Amino acid sequence: MSVHASAKRITTQVLQEMKHNGEKIAMLTAYDYSMARIVDGAGVDVILVGDSASNVMAGHETTLPITLDQMIYHAAGVVRAAKKALVVVDLPFGTYQGNSKEALNSAIRIMKESGAHAVKLEGGAEVRESIERILTAGIPVMGHLGLTPQSIYKFGTYTVRAKEEAEAEELKANAQLLEEIGCFSLVLEKVPAKLATAVSADLHIPTIGIGAGAGCDGQVLVLPDMLGITQDFSPRFLRRYLDMGQQMHDAIGQYVADVRSKDFPNESEQY
Ligand code: KIV
Repeated sequence: MSVHASAKRITTQVLQEMKHNGEKIAMLTAYDYSMARIVDGAGVDVILVGDSASNVMAGHETTLPITLDQMIYHAAGVVRAAKKALVVVDLPFGTYQGNSKEALNSAIRIMKESGAHAVKLEGGAEVRESIERILTAGIPVMGHLGLTPQSIYKFGTYTVRAKEEAEAEELKANAQLLEEIGCFSLVLEKVPAKLATAVSADLHIPTIGIGAGAGCDGQVLVLPDMLGITQDFSPRFLRRYLDMGQQMHDAIGQYVADVRSKDFPNESEQY
């Protein structure tokens, strides 16, 4: 039996075991109860309540505006739905970077008020103190290197990161550091597949890739993107499993037509 199948609940230890056994980890984002129930029921190992909620749920251009209160609101619904998956919640921009005490308070609020199982935050050496302080409270931390959307104004573009030798070496050093200080896993976003493969082979903790190739220990996609709900975002790495935006458009159009033509509700649909 696979590690996933034999586990009653996915824990950080189960993920470690999956890497050890060469079993790939499936992670998806979710931001609300109803979607998370489907995601959990379909066998996803890790549900990420990503700060991509800022884009796909709230319509902001970047992930920067979303607040800690809003992340906790999204996370609480997801936690209520997840029967087996590990729920990881992003610490939003401005709640952990400058001050490790504030980082710990932010992580504690997420754990206490949403019931989540772990937090994720972006960066390497520059956020070391914050990660260490959160870990001392017994809160599992997932790292995030490569394209880090909270720093978009520093980089200016969403293009592939660490293509040059110097940046690749820096990423490798940061990945080692995150493992050494105790992160249980690491997201690698939009970096060359060769680099992600090498980092994944060097680390004992599992890597989860998005636009980082098949050599990672697991994969993550943003749920509304892979379901085709968002339609104006088509990076090369995105595989669309449904054209749900179009299907919803057609279904809603049919409902509008049925109401207008007085076809809905019919006799069996009323009391
Ligand atoms: O916020 C998010 O959805 C993420 C994933 C893209 C990894 O961080």
